[in-house]
Amino acid sequence: MYCFIVLSGEHDTLPYAEVISLLQDNLMLKDIAGKKNVFFYDQVIRANITPQECKEVVEKCAFAHYGCLEIISSSQNLREIVEKLSEVSWKEFINKKVISVRVIRMKEYGLHIQVPVLEKHIVSSIKESIGDLRIDYKKPSIKLVGILTEDRFLLGKLIAQSSRKALERRRPGQRPFFHPSALDSKLARFMLNACKVKEGDVILDPFCGTGTIPLEAEHLGARALGVDVNLELIKGALINIQYLSKEKGAIIDLLCSDIFLLPLRKIKGVKVVTDPPYGRVASTHGRNVNEIYAVFFKLLVNNIRAQRVVMLSPHWIPLKDFIYKCNLRIVEQHALRVHGGLTRKVTVIENPDIPR
Ligand SMILES: C[S@@+](CC[C@H](N)C(=O)[O-])C[C@H]1O[C@@H](n2cnc3c(N)ncnc32)[C@H](O)[C@@H]1O
Repeated sequence: MYCFIVLSGEHDTLPYAEVISLLQDNLMLKDIAGKKNVFFYDQVIRANITPQECKEVVEKCAFAHYGCLEIISSSQNLREIVEKLSEVSWKEFINKKVISVRVIRMKEYGLHIQVPVLEKHIVSSIKESIGDLRIDYKKPSIKLVGILTEDRFLLGKLIAQSSRKALERRRPGQRPFFHPSALDSKLARFMLNACKVKEGDVILDPFCGTGTIPLEAEHLGARALGVDVNLELIKGALINIQYLSKEKGAIIDLLCSDIFLLPLRKIKGVKVVTDPPYGRVASTHGRNVNEIYAVFFKLLVNNIRAQRVVMLSPHWIPLKDFIYKCNLRIVEQHALRVHGGLTRKVTVIENPDIPR
């Protein structure tokens, strides 16, 4: 059984990395490269997973739009598509009488096929098999989605929608407490997913500012500890969490402390997702940024002992030096162009000495 997930076109690598991380971790596809059960297309991932697994992945994603149970997968030859449509046992997919059928063209793929013509073929094939049927784009009970991408045409039944709208309601500008250094909620969600954060996990963000990462962790069912040296930001994080947490009265621990003085003994089983200061919008409180990174990495290796860390950093920080000096390993890295002079990187790091 195949499902396909339609990705956002906002970034070249983040949408793929997020879905792969979730497929590898939660589900059945531990060895994505080895088994030939995942296919990658422009803005689409097609995988051999159940509808329930597809739903679990899509609902967590920041950079996916929706997920569909596949009905047909075809080349972009109209004759082949029509033939495959005629072989579908539609009753398996359509048990209600009001449906919508929408074909979406990714970029400029399959320009030789006219979308309205293809939609008509789909509708008449269903009508031939099921008979009485109403097409309604406003309130359909079942939505069919066709995607033209690269050399493929995929048709599926919509089964899952991502939480992007809810994430947008938690963007920095929408929160009761705002600070210009605040991280975007979608990027925070991506970082948590890249860290494979699951329900019940414990997350530490030692530079939590206005609380974006702890708040998103709470929405994924994890327990979060946020630390920041700035008391005003900790108070603001508390307000944001009170207004926007998933569970009323959610427990998110916040601590106002300088990481140079963080009262941590050795801890185990914590995942670290964080966005350290880089001295422009977010204050370093008079400290050299490299010094802050050095202390952070020392804490990571000696006290926190996290198996997986996902962090954001500006391009001028010699991050690889810190990582390799601590015998840590880079799993993947994504560049985010912020504006002309600034590129930020999301880096996924593992400690090979700590078992998963
Ligand atoms: C880039 S901001 C984090 C923004 C945060 N992710 C948010 O969404 O609001 C970096 C944070 O590190 C904090 N910080 C700077 N130096 C620190 C230190 N020595 N110990 C702990 N926090 C520090 C700053 O106060 C700032 O809030």
